[in-house]
Amino acid sequence: MTERGLRPARPEDGVAWITGASSGIGRELARFLLDEGWTVALTARREAELQAFAQHYPAERVFVIAADVTEAPAMANALARIEAEAGRPVALAIANAGVWRRMGLSDFDAEAFAQVMAVNVLGVANMLAAVLPGMRARRFGQIGIVASVAGYLGLPRASAYGASKAALIHMASSLRFEAAESGILVQVINPGFVATPMIAANTASKPFVLSAEAAASRIQRGLAGTGFEIAFPRPTVWLLKLARLLPWRLFFALGALGALARGRG
Ligand SMILES: NC(=O)c1ccc[n+]([C@@H]2O[C@H](COP(=O)([O-])OP(=O)(O)OC[C@H]3O[C@@H](n4cnc5c(N)ncnc54)[C@H](OP(=O)(O)O)[C@@H]3O)[C@@H](O)[C@H]2O)c1
Repeated sequence: MTERGLRPARPEDGVAWITGASSGIGRELARFLLDEGWTVALTARREAELQAFAQHYPAERVFVIAADVTEAPAMANALARIEAEAGRPVALAIANAGVWRRMGLSDFDAEAFAQVMAVNVLGVANMLAAVLPGMRARRFGQIGIVASVAGYLGLPRASAYGASKAALIHMASSLRFEAAESGILVQVINPGFVATPMIAANTASKPFVLSAEAAASRIQRGLAGTGFEIAFPRPTVWLLKLARLLPWRLFFALGALGALARGRG
């Protein structure tokens, strides 16, 4: 199959499995997918949060499978449970679980760096390793990898988070080539700032911030198409994409000016 033969998954194709569904973007996206008619499987570590959300829906439409994405066997086991309990395969996998941690020069910490990588990168790899064999065998599936615009280029105090998200953009674009041949649609989701518990502790200014609901709505729209990247909001995306084209010298000079203007010089 080629890129042109790809199509997005539909509720009748199977179950939508979302990691990081206990709060923020993941929980809102679960709500939108349920409203669209999907049967949804929710994964995160906090089972009570997942259950509290699930109780608003019929039991046969929502499966709560608590797991830590950093544990590969737990993720393989989660997939087996979802498919056994639902009696249908996972057709749409949304690798959304992630953590943010501020890390610049003064607070650089290798152990914390490894933890960010473990959740944000290996956690996604563990979900992909679980779902890919079945999707390849069925020659059908859709995978949405939640990265971030912070993965486009190095931003201040984001050395770990940004690196993890850059890795995901790389991983997704690399897989897209072969995935298309196997009938699997791979998409990368790059949000700008979204008001969720994740960024509540981030004291930096948050231009063009969206609500989790608005972010989930944009993601849902993107998942209904076959484009590779689902990125929003537009001003943030284009500013950062333009910045990526600048020569490094100019990029850092503008960054220094920006810091001066904000009184951090
Ligand atoms: N908010 C933003 O501005 C923004 C911007 C760009 C991209 N993103 C990305 O969007 C995704 C969702 O973030 P959010 O903003 O919605 O933040 P959030 O509300 O903090 O949600 C993060 C989710 O990840 C789960 N999680 C964290 N570690 C996990 C682990 N080891 N195993 C399983 N689940 C784990 C959390 O659940 P438990 O704690 O229950 O495990 C939670 O459900 C992340 O990948 C984030 O990087 C966010």
